[in-house]
Amino acid sequence: MDVTKIRRPDGMARITTKEQADAFIAEQIKLAQDEIGDKKVLLALSGGVDSSVVAALLIKAIGQQLVCVHVNHGLLRKGEPEQVIEVFRNNMNANLIYVDATDRFLDKLAGVTDPEQKRMIIGGEFIEVFAEEARKLDGIEFLAQGTIWPDVLESEAGIKAHHNAGGLPEDLDFELIEPVRILFKDEVRVVGKALGLPENMVERQPFPGPGLGVRCPGAITRDRLEAVRESDAILREEFAKAGLEGKVWQYFTVVPDFKSTGIKDGKRTFDWPCIIRAINTTDVVEVTVEHLDPALIDHLVQRITTEVPGINRVLYDYTPKPPATVEWE
Ligand code: XMP
Repeated sequence: MDVTKIRRPDGMARITTKEQADAFIAEQIKLAQDEIGDKKVLLALSGGVDSSVVAALLIKAIGQQLVCVHVNHGLLRKGEPEQVIEVFRNNMNANLIYVDATDRFLDKLAGVTDPEQKRMIIGGEFIEVFAEEARKLDGIEFLAQGTIWPDVLESEAGIKAHHNAGGLPEDLDFELIEPVRILFKDEVRVVGKALGLPENMVERQPFPGPGLGVRCPGAITRDRLEAVRESDAILREEFAKAGLEGKVWQYFTVVPDFKSTGIKDGKRTFDWPCIIRAINTTDVVEVTVEHLDPALIDHLVQRITTEVPGINRVLYDYTPKPPATVEWE
């Protein structure tokens, strides 16, 4: 079957309930089993909503015939690789290959300051690492992807070149399987919950492919990257405690590569600022800033400046889009 021809049926009811999700899952399991038979399927499992839902669905359909590859490019948020391993390998018994390619990515990125060049390196290296893993495996005939309906519509409208198999080298000529292709994002989340994925995985805020790399502006260094990762973890923890998780569309920290003076324990410091960004949007074309409770800001400033090495100042980015973009790079 040529999956690129599969379309969302006109008038298809929006999947909002567990019953509808269960019916969709049963249907997709049957379709996948008929299509795949006893063959093997490869999936790049990032831990994002779409690839996680595809993984959970295909594990139900074909079990160990699904081979998931989780590439850690060293730019993931705190706890993400661990959660992928816990959920898929430990809880769902997935056939999961974990590749820690941190050194490889950070070596290639060393000294690179141009944002688009950073993106190209991260994207290109990702495909190379994934392709190397794919070549080590025997008998893979299918590539599963977390394509969703808005991706199809945006590709057709020429807005976004979809991240599909076209990106893989020619010797890796797999047939595509796209089990959530006809779903909108909110439906993917309902299906994910019905499949038993953890709430925080299914309700995750959007996270860019180049990860924390675009939140560490300029040339990425390991110490500044760690400051981004730690401050982001604190921000997420405090947003969750304040009941903002799932309510604010996207929130993160940025640690730019300049320093300012400060004082700690009576001594002069010369450290980076940490910038907090929290935004709301429906289409990411126009974005408004979330106005935080001043008490929460005070608490964040206190925690970040005391717990994150290398940070002596916290700023809040009050700029909507336009004129600013969401990410700093
Ligand atoms: P901007 O910064 O363009 O971001 O206003 C809009 C949305 O897109 C995300 N974003 C990316 N996602 N690869 C991605 O997969 C990227 O290179 C990239 N750059 C930005 C950003 O997080 C926001 O949600």
